[in-house]
Amino acid sequence: MEVLGIDIGGSGIKGAPVDVETGQLTAERYRLPTPENALPQEIALVVAQIIEHFQWKNAVGAGFPAAIKYGVVQTAANIHPSWIGMNAGNLFSEKSGCPVSVLNDADAAGLAEMTFGAGKDYSRGVVLMITIGTGIGTALFTDGVLVPNTELGHIEIRGKDAERRSSDAARQRKDWTWAEWAKRLNEHLQRLEALFWPDLFILGGGVIKNHEKFFPYLNLRTPFVPAKLGNLAGIVGAAWYAHTKGASS
Ligand code: BGC
Repeated sequence: MEVLGIDIGGSGIKGAPVDVETGQLTAERYRLPTPENALPQEIALVVAQIIEHFQWKNAVGAGFPAAIKYGVVQTAANIHPSWIGMNAGNLFSEKSGCPVSVLNDADAAGLAEMTFGAGKDYSRGVVLMITIGTGIGTALFTDGVLVPNTELGHIEIRGKDAERRSSDAARQRKDWTWAEWAKRLNEHLQRLEALFWPDLFILGGGVIKNHEKFFPYLNLRTPFVPAKLGNLAGIVGAAWYAHTKGASS
């Protein structure tokens, strides 16, 4: 069975059909840039264009960079504030003519890693998936069950919203070396391990293709691994969510 997965990120919106039994993409990923202001109608148009590109007529899952409750957007850290209170699922479904189930993008990536990737063998214990890109996304699993919308990218560190120092966007904005940036990411992760005592960190998001450049600088008591599905985890997890949970959410 195939479901179209879409990952809505700060710089790009990417989609591909996914075989939800194996977690494999069945066609090449299609990517369009995220519109600059990230307004609801603009993003909905790009989502519809991706669905149209694959001439898709069936279920779609979309990961979205905000806390999402029953399809409704609750926060707007890196998107236009007019999203708050909007039902993104309904908006995307209306624009595209397909049933679209929406969940937080990091939760989507975490579901993919727990089902098909680095967290597959962790049906017991606490796993924390961290996606590192324009923002920092988090997905918390206890005994394999997702606690959605944890938003631990926004805890306060040194008086600031943590992702302002530890995201990949911060690294680029400040022109930090990998070592300078990794020190900040490490502080963020250390804080999370003090709060949650995870058994495993899975690190993903756009920056993970460069993990060799910063993993040597991380000093954590918790084991940490790169996302096995790399930057595709968001697409795979969104499709998997629509397949398994979408109908009831
Ligand atoms: C948002 C999260 C999202 C993360 C990664 C954060 O700024 O608040 O909802 O998961 O960025 O995109």
